Amino acid sequence: MAKQKTAFVCTECGSDYSKWQGQCSDCGAWNTVTEVRLGPAGRRGAAISAGNRAGFAGARPEAKLLSDIATEEVARIASGAGEFDRVLGGGLVPGSAILVGGSPGAGKSTLLLQTLCHLARARPCLYITGEESLQQVALRARRLGLPMDQLRLMAETNVESILAALEGDRPDVVVVDSIQVVHSDDIASAPGSVSQVRECAAALTRHAKQSGSVLLLVGHVTKDGSLAGPKVLEHMIDCSILLEGSDDSRFRTLRGQKNRFGAVNELGIFAMTDGGLREVKNPSAIFLDRSEEASSGSAVMVVWEGTRPLLVEIQALVDDSALGNPRRVAVGLEQNRLAMLLAVLHRHGGLHLGDQDVFANVVGGVKVLETSADLALLLAIVSSFRDHPLPRDLVIFGEVGLSGEIRPVPSGQERLAEAAKHGFRRAIVPKANAPKSAIPGMEVVPVRKLQEALAAFA
Ligand code: TYD
Ligand code: MG
Repeated sequence: MAKQKTAFVCTECGSDYSKWQGQCSDCGAWNTVTEVRLGPAGRRGAAISAGNRAGFAGARPEAKLLSDIATEEVARIASGAGEFDRVLGGGLVPGSAILVGGSPGAGKSTLLLQTLCHLARARPCLYITGEESLQQVALRARRLGLPMDQLRLMAETNVESILAALEGDRPDVVVVDSIQVVHSDDIASAPGSVSQVRECAAALTRHAKQSGSVLLLVGHVTKDGSLAGPKVLEHMIDCSILLEGSDDSRFRTLRGQKNRFGAVNELGIFAMTDGGLREVKNPSAIFLDRSEEASSGSAVMVVWEGTRPLLVEIQALVDDSALGNPRRVAVGLEQNRLAMLLAVLHRHGGLHLGDQDVFANVVGGVKVLETSADLALLLAIVSSFRDHPLPRDLVIFGEVGLSGEIRPVPSGQERLAEAAKHGFRRAIVPKANAPKSAIPGMEVVPVRKLQEALAAFA
């Protein structure tokens, strides 16, 4: 019998080592390097990879000229949900593998069941459920009123059986829910372990590329936001998208983390209703559901999410601190950025908040990672500190530099247009983002320095 190959792999980041060590030198995590049995070399090919010598993309090794490779546009398959297509970069690409991640209860199974029921009306589709029974899936589909007569369903967790079924059925779109329960007979470790997840996902991905079908893999995410174990998957799949939402909110965001066929950081927004996941077509309206009265500490900004602007409200609360080391808490924003902005405010705005607790929050559970939120956050903090509400029809965006300068942000015109569409009449924007011709009904205040911005609404 051929010798068993083993490797040592970090379960957090997927780094490989030739021998065991206590700490992963790549991600710094302790006790995460585990032994992975790669299965007997040579024999494994028999079941898992149909063509033993076939490479990852399915073709036999043969070098070609770059210009000789046929590149006619492959038609994408529309998923039927516009928000899902947006995140994918325009639809499902045949021959690709997509990982849909999310914490339990986020709605991964619901989203994929809805998508597949609709897709199945036009092309052969297969839903492989490893977590729920066939009855549970059918009950859910019936309750949601989905078209049920075309979708084929299978309860299976063995990867060899799944591959055999795919060979027989030849579906165009396959869902495997979830990759953590799929296991192979050739590998000794338990389902969900790194070696199982990695080898099974590799076999399924290889099959998708060879057969030109779309593979949608469901993956669970751990508490700290990383995919449990299958962080190692991210190298082999084509797209990785994450379905997120806080437990108390019915809104779910779908975000691309890696996409070989489109831009990442596109945001799709859904609402979980008793009729399943529904697309939210006008997200600005829901995140801006504000009270009638102007209140201090609230500022509205326009973030740029992928290819579209989104209006969000940033709130700040500044309060006398009882602690020697006042708290700086940022939810939905970057903590370090908040500390930096407070320093800029002190140095260049002359406002001393060293004895104040500062809390900042983005309403609606959205995460704002852009620097364009700087100015809105600063003005929200000043507004709360002075207990002086900002006008309700004011929108603010701009990056704040360390010397107190206000820097331009991309797509300024589109951001202003979105704000105007939602009834905003005033805007504080970086000088370089000021529109060349006036926007009807909107007063734009261009600013170059932090002091000018502070003076603009005082
Ligand atoms: P599910 O798709 O099973 O989540 P996942 O596969 O990501 O673990 O969704 C489960 C949650 O969604 C559950 O907590 C209840 C909620 N839900 C609704 O509110 N309405 C619905 O119509 C459905 C199907 C689920
Ligand atoms: Mg599920």
